[in-house]
Amino acid sequence: MNPPGDHGAPDQYGLAGHPVDHSWSPFIHGMFAKATGENIVYRLFDIPPGEFRGQALRLLTSGVRGLNVTVPHKQVAAELVNELTARAARSQAVNTIALRDDATLLGDNTDGIGLVTDLERNLGVSLANCRILVLGAGGAVRGIIGPLLERPVRSVVVANRTSSRARALAAEFRDLGPVEACGLEEITDQPFGLIINGTSASLSGEMPELPASVVGHRTFCYDMAYGRGETAFTRWAKARRAARVEKGWGMLVEQAAAAFALWRGKTPETRPVLEALVHFR
Ligand code: ATR
Repeated sequence: MNPPGDHGAPDQYGLAGHPVDHSWSPFIHGMFAKATGENIVYRLFDIPPGEFRGQALRLLTSGVRGLNVTVPHKQVAAELVNELTARAARSQAVNTIALRDDATLLGDNTDGIGLVTDLERNLGVSLANCRILVLGAGGAVRGIIGPLLERPVRSVVVANRTSSRARALAAEFRDLGPVEACGLEEITDQPFGLIINGTSASLSGEMPELPASVVGHRTFCYDMAYGRGETAFTRWAKARRAARVEKGWGMLVEQAAAAFALWRGKTPETRPVLEALVHFR
């Protein structure tokens, strides 16, 4: 790490995933760096499936001080690091790697805190006594179940196309709170307070098949996917007159802020970045 006021070479960070070319993380970390006066550079590293271990180690032993990790490498990243934070150990998925001064790698998962912070602080959603439906049981969902169950929710139902995956995932978190699992077609027919889409269906323009009655006039619908315009999920939710429909831009910014804090020891303000991104979403 450069000492304060040192205008030497910037410390290097980046995003490892496949694909990564759609990512807003360089923009977000660039704004954080400017606002906090940290001398860093943030790049995109496109690493194909099966090559994460070798390529991540090459980067982290040749000057890169930290990585964000995205699809499809989060679970391999959890196996690679020397130590996991409690929340990363719980989810067995890592979205942030920090190279420490003793040359060991720490793996964290800031996805869940990013989601919960966006919901509660940015969007004003109360999770107290909330019935939550989470769609999907893959890597994206692993990081969010624990942090949701830490809130005083009424219940979390994990529903997945392949119901056995939902059941296996819910079993890992049952000791933390009221979590149930089912297949998409088994979802009970009554409105939820919050529906979170954590499937990758939006990426291919598809919508998981759900009974329309899961959305009521007070249901908040949140797509963890982000990008310009509507997703299949946000279109579906609006057509069913959900109370409010949002995409995961705020989660993206909040998980990035938590990663930045781990790397640099400074927690950046997220409001200016959220305001800047309004022009792009
Ligand atoms: P990620 O890391 O993005 O979560 P993943 O581990 O491959 O990726 O998980 C993708 C999730 O999206 C899974 O829950 C998947 O359901 P299956 O477990 O049944 O495969 C879900 N998914 C993807 N496309 C879907 C679709 N068209 N309809 C419903 N669910 C879908």
